[in-house]
Formats: sequence, structure tokens, C-alpha cells
Amino acid sequence: MTAKFITFEGVDGAGKSTHLTWFADRLRQRGHEVLVTREPGGTPLGERLRDILLNQPMQAETEAMLMFAARLEHIETVIRPALRRGTWVLSDRFSDASFAYQGGGRGVPTARLEILEQWVQGGFQPDLTLLFDLPIEVARQRLSANVSLDRFEQEQGDFFEKVRQAYLARCRNMPSRFALIDATLSPNEVKAALEKIILSV
Ligand code: TYD
Repeated sequence: MTAKFITFEGVDGAGKSTHLTWFADRLRQRGHEVLVTREPGGTPLGERLRDILLNQPMQAETEAMLMFAARLEHIETVIRPALRRGTWVLSDRFSDASFAYQGGGRGVPTARLEILEQWVQGGFQPDLTLLFDLPIEVARQRLSANVSLDRFEQEQGDFFEKVRQAYLARCRNMPSRFALIDATLSPNEVKAALEKIILSV
């Protein structure tokens, strides 16, 4: 059976990282080798770029280019080699986050992001993307418990609503790649939804 590349997406506070850990364990119990990784990051260079991206103010388009630069390293040195070895790859965010945050949130034109996507990924896409969706007010409440907020989490106003809508638009445009998860449900209810997905991948 071929290894799959699965990405986890959603606005900050949706709870995707917790569910990612659980999802990885379930796949391992089913006998798969699983690599858990994240973006921005996932490589030594990518983690250095992450530190800059999360802390250093910059132009929106610089941000977009650095996200995709980190992604190129990640795909070529980590994701593709793992998939070739038969290892499943679960990534906490991938390029849908660039369309949602840099595109929706910051207003970088989609056409420009598509150029970067084509350059960096060619036709490479996740086999499946889990989008954890919830109203922004709920996500913000969950985040406020978190004392140190990064540059994205500190955004105000309708930034996160624009991010959410951009995610949902991608989900509508590519329904066969996406699974939409209602992140307002209790953790156990979300797990039940994920369990069904695990049985189908
Ligand atoms: P996040 O998964 O939220 O990390 P943590 O759980 O440690 O806070 O990711 C960090 C931030 O990076 C997040 O706010 C979204 C942002 N981001 C982008 O803006 N564009 C991208 O392409 C990616 C991958 C992430």
C-alpha cells in the first residue's frame, strides 16, 4: 500500500496539532511508519526560517516567498524521500496555509501564490487535507489561554475571518482532496470523525 501525505490545516486555536498527534498514533497502530512534521519548518533551514517568519515583521510578499522557500527544502529533503521509503507523512500545515494566511489574511494575490506553488511543488499536493474549521470567536477564546502569541496569532480585526474564509474557499474548490472537520465538537467527537477518515485512507 502506498504511503500517503496528509496535511492538517485550520486557523490558530482550531486544535489541529493535538489531533495530529493522535492521528499519527492511530496510523502507527495500524502498522504504518509515520513521520510527523510541520510548516514553516520541518528541516534545519526551515526551522530557522520559521523563527524569522514568526517573529520578524516583513512585507507580505516576502513572507509568502519565505514560506515557499522553506517548503521547497521540506518537500525535497524530507517529504518526498519519506514517501519513497513507504513512510506516511503528516504535516502540521502546508501550502493551503499560504493561500489562507498570506492570500486571505494579508491580501497577497492568489495568482502570485499560484506561481510560487507551481514553481515549488509542480503538481505535488497532499493526498488528503484535514481542515479544522470553527468560528473565529471560539478559536480566539482558545488562544487567549496561551500566554506567548506569535506574529500571526497577534493579528487583530478581521484577519482570522479572512484566513478562515480563504481556507473554506480552497476546500470548496478542491473537495476531493479536503475533509472538513467541525472543530467546535468535543475532542472525542472529533476523534470519532477522524477514525472514519483513517478507515477510508
Ligand atoms: P502553527 O501551526 O500555528 O504553529 P504553533 O501551533 O506552534 O503556533 O503555525 C505557525 C504560524 O504560521 C500560523 O500562525 C500560520 C502561519 N503560516 C502562514 O502564515 N503561512 C504558511 O504557509 C504556513 C505554513 C504557516
